[in-house]
Amino acid sequence: MEHYVVKGGNALVGEVEIAGAKNAALAILAASIMSDETVTIENVPDVSDIRVLVQAIESIGARVGHPDRHVYTINGAEIKDLPVDNALIRKIRGSYYMIGALLGKYKHAQVALPGGCAIGLRPIDQHIKGFKALGADVRVLKGGLLGAGAENLHGAHIYMDMVSVGATINIMMAAVMARGTTVIENAAKEPHVVDLANFLNSMGARIKGAGTDVIRVSGVERLHAAEYAIIPDQIEAGTYMFAAAATKGDVTITNVIPKHLESISAKLKEIGCEIEESDDALRVVATGRLKQTNVKTLPYPGFPTDMQPQIAVLLGLSKGTSIVTESIFESRFKYVDELMKMGAHITVEGNTAIIDGVEGYTGASINAPDLRAGAALVIASLAADGISEIHDIHFVERGYEDFPEKLRSLGGEIIKVSSEEEEEKAIRRFQLRAV
Ligand code: EPZ
Repeated sequence: MEHYVVKGGNALVGEVEIAGAKNAALAILAASIMSDETVTIENVPDVSDIRVLVQAIESIGARVGHPDRHVYTINGAEIKDLPVDNALIRKIRGSYYMIGALLGKYKHAQVALPGGCAIGLRPIDQHIKGFKALGADVRVLKGGLLGAGAENLHGAHIYMDMVSVGATINIMMAAVMARGTTVIENAAKEPHVVDLANFLNSMGARIKGAGTDVIRVSGVERLHAAEYAIIPDQIEAGTYMFAAAATKGDVTITNVIPKHLESISAKLKEIGCEIEESDDALRVVATGRLKQTNVKTLPYPGFPTDMQPQIAVLLGLSKGTSIVTESIFESRFKYVDELMKMGAHITVEGNTAIIDGVEGYTGASINAPDLRAGAALVIASLAADGISEIHDIHFVERGYEDFPEKLRSLGGEIIKVSSEEEEEKAIRRFQLRAV
């Protein structure tokens, strides 16, 4: 099985360019089928979750072009009314955006219930509540499909019971061509919610307020062609910021929107890193041992849950006791056992991790339990003394483009191998370099 072999101990130094945002791209690619004209999407990251969604879009009859690694053209004129379902689509979370897109355009949809990272119960009651408020009948069909359909969709006033990125996005898509105005209260404010709204508006939608907690969608008759570039990935950028800090490095992260990274920059400064900011880049410099802090995950603009494992890895090496509270997902500390194998001192009590910083980690054989935790364990291995093996890297590849290549360009020693032979070769190469 493919895995990473990592030799830790090198400070990461240099410049790394960030890809387009995976979670924005999932929503935008799904929404692009809503026009009968050709839509061109640029800055799409080349990661496995995106490839799966594109396959699903193609399988229902959309014409998909892929003229460049990061560009897709999508024409939804000939979509057939087939269920969106296959073994792969059941594994990704972003599949549920096909419900909002198909329901919004055709007034009916049948999509396999979503999978995604195992980070706790992930109900979709708020999505369903929104679709119903717009006039749709929603039910679970045979074979684990979610069906939604209506004669006509109409605008509605929807108050979300909790801040949900996915539900906000799905309801926006379903409401775009509904008759009248929809108001989504307590909406999510994440950058990818705003990116989707900007994209839909570029196709002729009338959405106001995205980025605040009240979004107004005035229904339009149809959506037209557009060309759109996806925003940079806030979480990929943050991951490299923490990698720089954990290895006591000096990394400039380019193609970012610094505003989207404020909660991350603020925490890094608080624990002793230097951050330099320009229009579309951030430099992170860490010298010496960092200090403890406490952090609680919150919806944007709070500290993102998708950065929780990465900051925990860093705080595991910082001086003093840190407390990390996970308030979005119920089961996002599965990586802690793996990190303890590397020498971390962490106690988990409910949704809180109490971290006693250690001087250093040591290399170990570990498993990535999900996407972001997998990336965090790679950071721990890069900072550790000795060699680590990281298994289940298919999770990491769901959301990080060229992860080993980018880390190697910064001086990290990480090689993806697929056999014992390759692993031995990688280790010999590390040993030769060390001589
Ligand atoms: C999105 O998931 C992201 N996924 C997640 O990224 C991210 O962690 C999360 O937002 C929070 O920022 C995609 O964009 C594909 P939510 P989503 O609906 O939309 C509860 C990654 O690593 N909830 O904002 O599924 C829910 O259980 C992934 O890239 C309900 O109870 O998250 C959670 O506790 C992992 N009912 C909270 O709300 C609902 O109907 C927030 O979930 C919907 C959500």
